[in-house]
Amino acid sequence: MSGTVFFIFGATGDLAKRKLFPAFYSLYREGKLGDNFAVVGLARRPRTNEQFQADVKHSIGEFARYKIDNEENWTSFVQRFEYMSLDINNIENFHQLKKLTDGLDEKYETGGNRLFYLALAPELFGNVSANLREGGLMDTTGWHRLVIEKPFGYDLASAEKLNEQLRQVFEEKDIYRIDHYLGKEMVQNIEFVRFANAFFEPLWNKTYIANIQITLSETVGVEERGGYYDQSGALRDMGQNHMLQMLMMMAMEPPSRLNAEDIRDEKVKVLRSLRLLETVEDVRSNTVRGQYTTGGSNGKPLPAYRQEDSVQPESTTETYFAARVFVDNFRWAGVPFYIRTGKRLPVKTTEVVVEFKNIPDNVYLAKKHDLQPNLLVFRVNPLEGIYMKMNVKKPGSEGVIIPIAMDFCQSCQIGINTPEAYERLLHDAQRGDSTYFTRWDEVALAWQYVDRIAKVWPLSPEDLSMYPAGSWGPERAQEMLAEDGFKWWPVN
Ligand code: BG6
Repeated sequence: MSGTVFFIFGATGDLAKRKLFPAFYSLYREGKLGDNFAVVGLARRPRTNEQFQADVKHSIGEFARYKIDNEENWTSFVQRFEYMSLDINNIENFHQLKKLTDGLDEKYETGGNRLFYLALAPELFGNVSANLREGGLMDTTGWHRLVIEKPFGYDLASAEKLNEQLRQVFEEKDIYRIDHYLGKEMVQNIEFVRFANAFFEPLWNKTYIANIQITLSETVGVEERGGYYDQSGALRDMGQNHMLQMLMMMAMEPPSRLNAEDIRDEKVKVLRSLRLLETVEDVRSNTVRGQYTTGGSNGKPLPAYRQEDSVQPESTTETYFAARVFVDNFRWAGVPFYIRTGKRLPVKTTEVVVEFKNIPDNVYLAKKHDLQPNLLVFRVNPLEGIYMKMNVKKPGSEGVIIPIAMDFCQSCQIGINTPEAYERLLHDAQRGDSTYFTRWDEVALAWQYVDRIAKVWPLSPEDLSMYPAGSWGPERAQEMLAEDGFKWWPVN
């Protein structure tokens, strides 16, 4: 593993506390960070190194997969964490940071490799990048990588602007745009299941597949993020990134080689084939949007979205959206992909369901059997696994058919303690593997798709349906599938 100085901008924030410090610790415990590394925490707030190291310890105690159980090992880990209070608009501070880092380079023999992780609001990305260059932080012979969080822009125009700013400092190959869904074990597994199994790939097309459904449901409301969410809504917050990423993984062609560029080239082709919703009528008939009102879950009353902190009392922001998406290419002609996501739904789950067509001239259907279609289900979150629903004869019956599940429950068999998405992504960024990061053309094309919808929605305010918190969202989402003769498969 190459030596690295990691910089965490936003080191006193929530992401660092919940995800990044625990990820560092797991990687360290598994020997994946190597010996030549240091971590510099940066934020405005004054903090001593000791205070910062105590924060890191606290966060690891609360959120990490590994317990701190060996004092010597812990000390050798935590002493590599240094803190510097930094004002991102003050170039002098960046000069000081350079001095600090040059010392760390030497102490830990990092080879001048630097990974800048911006756990900050996107408006700040441009300034920070420019100051990294001006402050001399990039004047080393090693590599310099930038890792950034979503949202990458608010629409295509703002994303382009942001990208231009970053590209003045970093090359595209050195920009690692995080979509944490791509770090999830089962999302990565889609590719393996599809391309490593003789019995799926031949069926993976319009001849055998009736539809594909992607559900990403959450029980939480907007929590403390009302200010951000009210500007964003479900379409931008989840649709533009996580949902389309999963759709790409399901729809892409096999790459000719297993490398980041070939894989992402195939994903981009899917985005290029998306049928853009051209007219108001297209948007109205192929999308559904809703907002939660007061409701309840397990006897507990839940407030309406409009009552949440930092949300406008008359807000028309959607907290739920569903869409019927078509990938207009040879493999998928005519196969609907249904996607839905929402806050304050009854369960927290992410599932991808492939519904197969019935075999033609099915003798059991002719005999009026109640025959369910075959399903292949990827359970992404919180349960991880895959199962297949198939039809068998009910034991002991006179030809009664029942659906059974052939189940690979990864969280049961391999253990729930699988690496967190952030561990995988941090490790990949350090190794220079950008396969599971979003390339610029993916971002741009995803915005292009989403922008059309977002532009049209305000023209028909009456289409925003209210749904009680704790319910499955607007009825219209059921109707959309019923129009095609389908239904949403219940999630587990
Ligand atoms: C984030 C969204 O990207 O993903 C949040 O901004 C959402 O609104 C979260 O809650 C869901 O992630 P996960 O991993 O908990 O399903």
